[in-house]
Amino acid sequence: MKIELLMNVKERMEWLRKELHRHNHNYYILNSPEISDQEFDYMMRELQDLEQAHPEYYDPNSPTMRVGSDLNKEFKQVAHKYPMLSLANTYSESEVADFYDRVKKGLEGEDFEICCEMKYDGTSISLIYEDGRLVQAVTRGDGVHGDDVTANVKTIHSIPLQLAPGDYPHNFEIRGEILMPWKVFEELNLERELNEEPLFANPRNAASGTLKLQNPKEVARRKLDSYLYYLLGENLPADGHYENLEKARSWGFKISEGMKKCKTLQEILDFINYWDVERKNLPVATDGIVLKVNSLVQQRHLGYTAKSPRWAIAYKFQAERALTKLEKITYQVGRTGVITPVANLTPVQLAGTVVKRASIHNADVIEGLDLHIGDMVYVEKGGEIIPKITGVDKSYRNSLTGEKVRFITVCPECGTPLVRFEGEAAHYCPNDVGCPPQIKGKIEHFISRRAMNIDGLGPETVALFFNAGYVHDVAGLYDIFYRKGEIQTLDEFYDKNPWHFMSIPGFKSKSVLKIMKSIKDSLQVPYPRVLFALGIRFVGEATAKLLAKSFPTIESLASAKLQELLEVEGVGEVIAESIIKYFADERNIHLISELKANGLQFALSEEILSERTDKLAGKSIVISGVFTKHSRDEYKTMIERHGGKNVGSISVKTSFILAGENMGPAKLEKAQKLGISIVNEDDFLSMIE
Ligand code: IVH
Repeated sequence: MKIELLMNVKERMEWLRKELHRHNHNYYILNSPEISDQEFDYMMRELQDLEQAHPEYYDPNSPTMRVGSDLNKEFKQVAHKYPMLSLANTYSESEVADFYDRVKKGLEGEDFEICCEMKYDGTSISLIYEDGRLVQAVTRGDGVHGDDVTANVKTIHSIPLQLAPGDYPHNFEIRGEILMPWKVFEELNLERELNEEPLFANPRNAASGTLKLQNPKEVARRKLDSYLYYLLGENLPADGHYENLEKARSWGFKISEGMKKCKTLQEILDFINYWDVERKNLPVATDGIVLKVNSLVQQRHLGYTAKSPRWAIAYKFQAERALTKLEKITYQVGRTGVITPVANLTPVQLAGTVVKRASIHNADVIEGLDLHIGDMVYVEKGGEIIPKITGVDKSYRNSLTGEKVRFITVCPECGTPLVRFEGEAAHYCPNDVGCPPQIKGKIEHFISRRAMNIDGLGPETVALFFNAGYVHDVAGLYDIFYRKGEIQTLDEFYDKNPWHFMSIPGFKSKSVLKIMKSIKDSLQVPYPRVLFALGIRFVGEATAKLLAKSFPTIESLASAKLQELLEVEGVGEVIAESIIKYFADERNIHLISELKANGLQFALSEEILSERTDKLAGKSIVISGVFTKHSRDEYKTMIERHGGKNVGSISVKTSFILAGENMGPAKLEKAQKLGISIVNEDDFLSMIE
């Protein structure tokens, strides 16, 4: 009876895995889901639960792997079976014609076809499959060895973990590109800007940076995508590269829709010209076209040079660029004091828009380009969002050309001498509490949706208040609209603020009431978000949450020592030092006390705190089986609330197992072997009572 039951569980798990693989393919490759997201999640949840309860049926390629785990391990270096070569680049039609002629000559008059395909601009990956299962994913590395990033790659939905039965070889390798779609890239940068993290310059950097993260869970969140473009192995289905990729598509891989076999040079050039325009409508970045001799026999015949195949070449699209005059350089001061030089240009048409400004990043770039005011400069829109200056045409220089550009030494907004930290390219204005754009930026951050979510106030109103001298920090907002509870009605507002807002255009009673309400609502914003809202440099949303957990009051955080801060997950030297510096500044302490006097939350709420104990402090607890009184998640929360740690698998370090019904036999055996006690639901509940 028992055996039959277990077989059912196993079968159910296998069925769920197979179905989830299939639905994943329908959704991510074919774009035609058969079931709703909710149904998908439901099945995934069931499988996750069964896997937790039955570790004996572990499958490293289970669809649950897509969610990623928090495991943090260094990458293993792996040797590539076939070296990962790069392609020779060409930039003009005549170079493409040269390639075509070389191939023709090399094949001594034989007929040949060239497979033309997109050159995806991401980071390359080699995937190894054995009997239809993804067993390893390795980065290009130095071409001979790469990093084993299998756990991260498993989170990418368009990469099949388990192929449906098909005519694929037992062992094969497939290579391709990991990409971050434009949309995901833009969202990620927006979020990073909000959290004061450095932005990614383009989707390529974002994709490769993400793939190298040590936290697959974060990788999963970043929604990478893939295109595969090269099948390798001993028993490939066809002699044609194109045909092999079509096969790979039928096995479940994501293959470009835009591949084409061409016979003549003209067909190749037409393909290039078509995609040079059409690629702008693709959801991912491309930077050229790859041309490959289609027949594998002919590829072998042509062979390789030391660096690249003779049977393939990359044609790189011209980055769109324009020549225009550099009129002047202005300097912007960001919320954190970073100084960004901006090139002001004579307006010029580029890739469908008029460009008036371009970024030049930092002082080193200015120096490297040897920029002079009045220079004729090249502006390019590559994969980057903001156009940049890539060169100077010095032949235009004459006696009217202006001076060499020298980076400013004092802040253009407040006159404070700039600083440059060791190892950093950027200049900073250190006057973080007195420099206008830094103050305005801090207020904007404070009121933003993910921080205090104060409706009715936007950057324009903040600027108006600040410029009129009504507000010089975030406490000023509370003073005007709440004043420690003294202002509750519109009359009280006008009474306490006799200088009147009526002088501010468009600022009517309705707007005042709206701000008053959202300021009052903000008193309920929980401590972790208030901490984030303060805008301590490098303390983003996630870090603020973790800090609040370890330091449940602002006082405990303010007095924390460097070493204590470093013990918080995700806090390194840079963040820890920034926190110490923030609380060492009297002005910040004063600001916090003003906000506190207005009633903002500077401690974890009583609710959370009062339920906290250290009854399970230092205990590692495994949860297994099916429960009747509370859900598995609830037990997990209880363990954490009482100071314990919920761990996934049994080891010598496990303190006890919280076991429900149907605990897996393998777990039971392991527990008995290690002499680990098993605690049932009721006993556990009385333990923490
Ligand atoms: S084939 C031996 N096809 O471009 C041929 N590469 O410098 C191996 N790439 O490292 C490459 N799209 O990361 C090939 N359709 C495509 C490609 C492609 C992008 C990348 C790849 C490679 C680099 C070549």
